[in-house]
Amino acid sequence: MTWWRDAVVYQIYPRSFCDTNADGVGDLNGVRRRLGYLEWLGVDAIWLSPIFPSPMRDFGYDVADYEDVDPTFGSLEDFDLLVREAHGRGIKLLLDWVPNHTSSEHPWFIDSRSSRRSRHRDWFIWREAKSDGGLPNNWIHAWSEEPAWTWDELTGQYYLHMFLADQPDLNWSNSEVRDAMSETLRFWLDRGVDGFRMDVVHGLGKNVDQDDPEELRMLSHTPLNDAAVTHDYLREIRGVLDEYEGDRVSIGEVYLLDPAQVAKYYGHGDELHLSFNFTSLFTPWCASAWLKTIRDTESALGAVSAWPTWVLSNHDNARVATRLGGQERVRAAMTLLLTLRGTAFLYAGEELGLEDAVVSPERMVDPGGRDGCRAPLPWSASHDHGWPAGARLPFAAEASRMSVESQVDSPGSVLHFTRQLLALRRSSKALRGGTIENLHADAQVLVFERRCDDECVRVMVNFDATRTPVEATGSSLLFSSVEQPAPGELAPNEAAIFRIV
Ligand code: NOJ
Repeated sequence: MTWWRDAVVYQIYPRSFCDTNADGVGDLNGVRRRLGYLEWLGVDAIWLSPIFPSPMRDFGYDVADYEDVDPTFGSLEDFDLLVREAHGRGIKLLLDWVPNHTSSEHPWFIDSRSSRRSRHRDWFIWREAKSDGGLPNNWIHAWSEEPAWTWDELTGQYYLHMFLADQPDLNWSNSEVRDAMSETLRFWLDRGVDGFRMDVVHGLGKNVDQDDPEELRMLSHTPLNDAAVTHDYLREIRGVLDEYEGDRVSIGEVYLLDPAQVAKYYGHGDELHLSFNFTSLFTPWCASAWLKTIRDTESALGAVSAWPTWVLSNHDNARVATRLGGQERVRAAMTLLLTLRGTAFLYAGEELGLEDAVVSPERMVDPGGRDGCRAPLPWSASHDHGWPAGARLPFAAEASRMSVESQVDSPGSVLHFTRQLLALRRSSKALRGGTIENLHADAQVLVFERRCDDECVRVMVNFDATRTPVEATGSSLLFSSVEQPAPGELAPNEAAIFRIV
């Protein structure tokens, strides 16, 4: 079994994690400082959101140099040290690779826009205005109704950007671009990284000469973002990872909200190793909705023998505590996340049950308005919460009580709950790699079983706000999301794990 199949990957948004040089922004040495905490928690791998040099218009998802570390986060030496220490603790390290676009300050784009005959002109996607002076097509960029094209005065053409105008899209149909991007992967693979989360990889291939159906002009829609040629590019990318020993993994951000579409990105075992399945991020708190999400995922991925992934929060969306409301649901959702069949992704702070911060308009910095879920991690109960120079964004509600320090000292906290659940997952072959069977819902109770060899566990989640009787003969309770589980019934929003005897 490859390590990433049964892994729990912990996502770190470095700016908001831990600051060691008192500039109010987290850094690589901060991640290194907290490796002991992550080992204690029991995660298998960390994924760092982008750490590369960047003008930070999209906080690192606008890369100005793929082969260095932004000084805000530290240096290559800090990075090497981090990899070494993480590996020393048995923690794998993944980077966030942003292949769809660069920063407008990347030297490739600076050269590209300098003249129609420049060496890198065709590395980006340039088009003439239409004969009536109009835009090359009707695409809009991901966060607004604004066009995905910006006019460049100097050379008199439009360039394409699926995100901000400061994030020009690379032209992946140009083999020089693909070769250069492969080199950027090798740069980090040579330094020992265990793989990559790959930003919007489903958008690499583009049918630029086609308008989008008017009603479907959004990032998640297939007509715009599902060009067949992307699969050729993914096979090339996979080839680069396969040059290396040690199970290096590619995890694609395939933002198509349909597991059947997502399944295609695993290819025939020759494209992505894993792909995010964002349906779980948008499934409401309701047994039938979760039943559908799990069924659709299992049947679409099972059909191509692809391994599922599960995620509840990340740096782009409201945290699970905010989205679902209430700590009971946080615990039950965490139980689901860590018992479903597949690789699980845990977003830093989710183990604390953090909510999004309330960010006033004057303090908002993100062009996509995602500041709330990017609030800094509260490490201590003291007034600065372990951020001696303050932090650039406000803390989430009740940061003292929710801090790591307070929760470590409180055996009944969400943090201890998560840690115990992670330990249970680790100790159970059925939960890590077993089959999923008997998936069904009885009214508001979702039920499934995980089985491996002679071990079988049953998971039951009560999505209702009332006590619900359940049949538990032939099983013994292994774990519950509530402090005092009652035999023969589930408390409101309780998730319980039983061993089938
Ligand atoms: C997806 C990333 O998760 C998001 O944070 C970023 O803004 C866009 N891709 C553009 O890179």
